Amino acid sequence: MPLARQPPMIVGNWKMHGVTADLAEMGVIARELLERPTSTEVVICPPATLLATASRCLDGTGIATGGQDCDAKGQGAHTGGVSAAMLVDAGARYVLLGHSERRRLDRETDVDVAAKAAAAFRAKLRPILCVGESAAQRQAGRTLAVLRRQVLRSCPPEAGAGRLTVAYEPVWAIGAGATPAPADIEAAHATIREALCRRYGDASASIRVLYGGSVDGANAAQLLQIAGVDGLLVGRASRRAVQFLPVVRAGETAPPPLDYLPTD
Ligand code: PGA
Repeated sequence: MPLARQPPMIVGNWKMHGVTADLAEMGVIARELLERPTSTEVVICPPATLLATASRCLDGTGIATGGQDCDAKGQGAHTGGVSAAMLVDAGARYVLLGHSERRRLDRETDVDVAAKAAAAFRAKLRPILCVGESAAQRQAGRTLAVLRRQVLRSCPPEAGAGRLTVAYEPVWAIGAGATPAPADIEAAHATIREALCRRYGDASASIRVLYGGSVDGANAAQLLQIAGVDGLLVGRASRRAVQFLPVVRAGETAPPPLDYLPTD
């Protein structure tokens, strides 16, 4: 059966930045994209405190919102916890999970990430699940083995592959102003795709694999030309319209991913 082509997905991750005044930047992005609509799928993940307001601001603009984490449990005595259903209630359609900052600073394991992704699926939220090797793992030549292991252990077995997105984010490239060589990104994405195919079979064809780590308006178009790159996850360059919009526009000229070309 021919598979539908999917447009590139551009995701902005505001991390722990932003107060109400910064929503003005979101307004600028929304106005620009309403005036000149984009063929890319745009998602913005603000901090939890801004999520409900951001979702209201962006309602009807075609830009979706996402949380930056969720709890593995549905509800209960967990002070400070935010469940997947709460994110949905705040208007989110997506949730970032397993970001390397959470894996490192909050000691999240692959098992924790899989439990959170399963919770997201149950709440009908779409997880954007991050994987990526550290500098030490890269130097030891273990990049592809690490990625394979993270995908197989962090992606839950639950049926729901159609709602999953994976983001390859080399830990050493995040916020560093450096990206891997195109051939290395291509190899990483091919390995992730193979692991997703092992995990989900044919259903894995609908999973987009994004690249993240020092993406900006200057390198976005080139990154999107790399085979297997179905979109971008953007940190620093996502919080200001003047930086984020060029990344979104770069997605409009990206070739459709070969995996999704019709077969007949
Ligand atoms: P960066 O962050 O674009 O600032 O490197 C990306 C991320 O951590 O998601």
